[in-house]
Amino acid sequence: MSALDVSAFPSDFAWGASTSAYQIEGGWNMDGKGPSTWDTFCHAKGKVFEDQTGDVACNSYQLWEEDLKCILQLGLTHYRLSISWARILPDGTTNHVNLKGVEYYNKVIDNLIASDVTPMVTLCHFDLPQALEDCGGWQSTDIADIFENYARFCFKTFGDRVKLWITVNEPYVYAKLGHEDGIFAPGIKEPGISAYLVGHNMLRAHAKSWHSYNSDFRHLQGGQVSIALNSDWAEPLDPGCPKDVAATERYLAFSLGWFACPVFGTGDYPESMKSRIEARSLELGYNQGPRLPRFSKDEPSPLGTADFFALNYYTSRKVKNLNGARELSFTGDEGAEGVTDPSWPISGIYWLAVVPDGLRKLLKYIKDTYTSLPIYITENGFSQSGPVQKEDDDRCTFYQDTLQEVGKAISQEGVNVKGYFAWSLLDNFEWAEGFRLRFGLFHVDFSTPELKRTFYRSGREYAAVISKHHSQTKSKLV
Ligand code: GAL
Repeated sequence: MSALDVSAFPSDFAWGASTSAYQIEGGWNMDGKGPSTWDTFCHAKGKVFEDQTGDVACNSYQLWEEDLKCILQLGLTHYRLSISWARILPDGTTNHVNLKGVEYYNKVIDNLIASDVTPMVTLCHFDLPQALEDCGGWQSTDIADIFENYARFCFKTFGDRVKLWITVNEPYVYAKLGHEDGIFAPGIKEPGISAYLVGHNMLRAHAKSWHSYNSDFRHLQGGQVSIALNSDWAEPLDPGCPKDVAATERYLAFSLGWFACPVFGTGDYPESMKSRIEARSLELGYNQGPRLPRFSKDEPSPLGTADFFALNYYTSRKVKNLNGARELSFTGDEGAEGVTDPSWPISGIYWLAVVPDGLRKLLKYIKDTYTSLPIYITENGFSQSGPVQKEDDDRCTFYQDTLQEVGKAISQEGVNVKGYFAWSLLDNFEWAEGFRLRFGLFHVDFSTPELKRTFYRSGREYAAVISKHHSQTKSKLV
């Protein structure tokens, strides 16, 4: 990455890396932690690659100091972690607080701050307490208030030190992969129905929490709250074909727009989503009420409930029109299919086509369509599968090209990008793919109990980029 021009990045740019609790912590039943949906999902056979689990993962619950060393070696200014909800509230409610869990996160947060690293904390990164799933989980109306209570507990407990909050990570992924496709926890397969309900309740939970923070905590703590949205960049497969062009708009509406439009746009779902879902319900004779729920006037509106835009970007798609699905399904409603361009290299797994300039285009699209608020890229990364390559040149090229595009988004497109968080600090448990995909800046040796962390070349080079930017900033000040 030595060729990277860092002059486009503002002096206070956040250089970060991200992780999430279930993917790194392990200690799945230690010290009073309750089970989460991911514990249950992994313990049921046949759900995850080779029946692997996050029971131990990187054992960050016990080896946090090793993670901290990695963070310091990288010279990160920011670190994004998530709280395991069930570690601090084993049944998901504030009726019972697990003090050992609270202690763990206090230690992590205090150590970060003492090391001059700003924490960004996600409240729910896919791992819902199982006790709440047993009462309907994200499909239940009550979950929004329960989440708000949990969020308030975290604001009260950690908010004196944590100033950057993410309520929910990637509602699209947890709703769709977990409740439409059934390939993520909680493994529900109710095509065309549950994902919309789950997404809706996640938005309600997020909005209530933001409003709580805004009225009761902001004046005391001065922090910021957002929701992390994932999106591909999308372009028509055939730009000359009006149907592909319309399908591309739907593709973006059904992914980014599903959540961005209520929060940053109109306060409601995208028009194309509402009309398509309604028309298809009629067409397919579905008459059990609206599949896409409506926002109630009696609850706080989702509109304006974010202090910054948090974007997870991994890849891009060429989109073609898809007609005629005869069964209820999200994809049928969306009426679009995304494919990869044969010229795009694939990183580790079939879906992860490497398209760095897609990030620049998406950043510009967000600025033009939704908001001029600052944007943090809260996840972006490149995976390896097969024999480990510590000299991961492809990943180095990936980071260099991607950061170059972020620089261009700032200097040429005028996008207010405040920070970049690489996914991930460490190799970790990659959900249904288990440990066979490695996204780390640090390699983790999962074959020994020490779970030793060692630099990949990409990690060393990322550290060099951060340090180059730091020296440039300092020399400008002198
Ligand atoms: C995201 C998710 C992360 C990570 C990443 C890589 O969807 O938020 O937890 O797994 O994908 O696939």
